[in-house]
Amino acid sequence: MSEAVARGLEGVNVTATKLCRIDGQKGELIYSGYNIYDLAEHSTFEEVAFLLWNLRLPNKAELAALEQELREQRPLSDLNSRVLREIIGQIRPMRALEIAVIIAGALDAKSSDLTNQQLKKTAALLTARMPTVLATFHRLRQGLEPVAPRDDLGHSANFLWMLNGREPNELESRVFDVAMILHAEHEMNASTFSALVTASTLSDMYSATASAIGTLKGPLHGGANEAVYRTVEAIGVEANIAPHVEGMLGRGERVMGIGHRVYKTTDPRAIILEKLGHQLAETSPDRKYFDLSLKLRDYLARKLEGKPLYPNVDFFSASVYKMLGIPSDLYTPIFAMSRITGWTAHMLEQYADNRLVRPNALYEGAANREYVPVASR
Ligand SMILES: CC(C)(COP(=O)(O)OP(=O)(O)OC[C@H]1O[C@@H](n2cnc3c(N)ncnc32)[C@H](O)[C@@H]1OP(=O)(O)O)[C@@H](O)C(=O)NCCC(=O)NCCS
Repeated sequence: MSEAVARGLEGVNVTATKLCRIDGQKGELIYSGYNIYDLAEHSTFEEVAFLLWNLRLPNKAELAALEQELREQRPLSDLNSRVLREIIGQIRPMRALEIAVIIAGALDAKSSDLTNQQLKKTAALLTARMPTVLATFHRLRQGLEPVAPRDDLGHSANFLWMLNGREPNELESRVFDVAMILHAEHEMNASTFSALVTASTLSDMYSATASAIGTLKGPLHGGANEAVYRTVEAIGVEANIAPHVEGMLGRGERVMGIGHRVYKTTDPRAIILEKLGHQLAETSPDRKYFDLSLKLRDYLARKLEGKPLYPNVDFFSASVYKMLGIPSDLYTPIFAMSRITGWTAHMLEQYADNRLVRPNALYEGAANREYVPVASR
């Protein structure tokens, strides 16, 4: 092959952004100038959403206005509720999200208005709607009626309330809110890129979001957190860690939640989630998943020593969500529910300075073949 092919686009800058900087060697993650450790310590998910959409933190009035806008947009449309009830037994929750996004787009008469002001409204609508879709989906599939959103609860606490029909305590609300902050944005990952490709054709934000959800679904991207849970569940007890991992590696399988295209050290999000996991574990009846994850992490650290393979964000999010009482097939949809803020923020950048994404492919096929009509083949 004479020309180079950038397979996986590794190391290629496909655009410039003011949203996020990652230093994969140092394990640094920065949202628009703010270190993820500071955001996880001090801010709320709503503040981070504002930051990503406006490239600055909100003042009190601006934050209150965004919180109000998100609250107003929480209820599902009648159409979405009816469709969900109709197909509840046939789909998985990521599909429910895709459908919800398409329905919201279909009902928005301004969906093709790509002005910055309108796009920010769409971003808020999508962000507000996703938790209600997932909670409604989860209630209906259990044969339960959906729980209405509560105006006195913040974005994350309201989700847990709608999901479980029980008001989360302060620690649960805060841990989930931090998990939402940690998943909100991550530079040019696969789902964000697919959103940008769609937006770059000047298609609307709803379609670009549907592209991103479809991309996030795969096990090499957002699907990894659910896969981590399945691994930990299959291992079951500490004594099984070694044979299970040896078996996986022997079959050439990857251990989910380990390794990252950009981080060549521990993902800072995994460090923060581990800390939160310890806090939840103090009172959680499900702490065995977290404890086993810690042992698995230690075993893998010894086993993979010398290789740049460390826990990523998905490694601890699985057991943290388990301790919050969230079923494992919602882990990836919850990733989408948070990352919608980063996706839409990147779309805002793309629409504001658009260039159609249209790369090349190196042709390696046959040359100069003689065409033979089908009757003679
Ligand atoms: C995320 C991921 C796709 C990034 O991988 P990448 O940059 O493409 O790295 P490569 O596929 O080139 O892998 C490099 C080497 O590490 C190994 N490796 C990478 N991830 C591994 C894992 N999770 N378990 C075991 N080995 C792994 C590969 O087998 C390869 O080994 P080799 O050089 O002997 O062939 C990869 O680490 C992975 O599949 N992780 C598990 C899925 C996951 O957790 N995804 C969520 C990311 S946030």
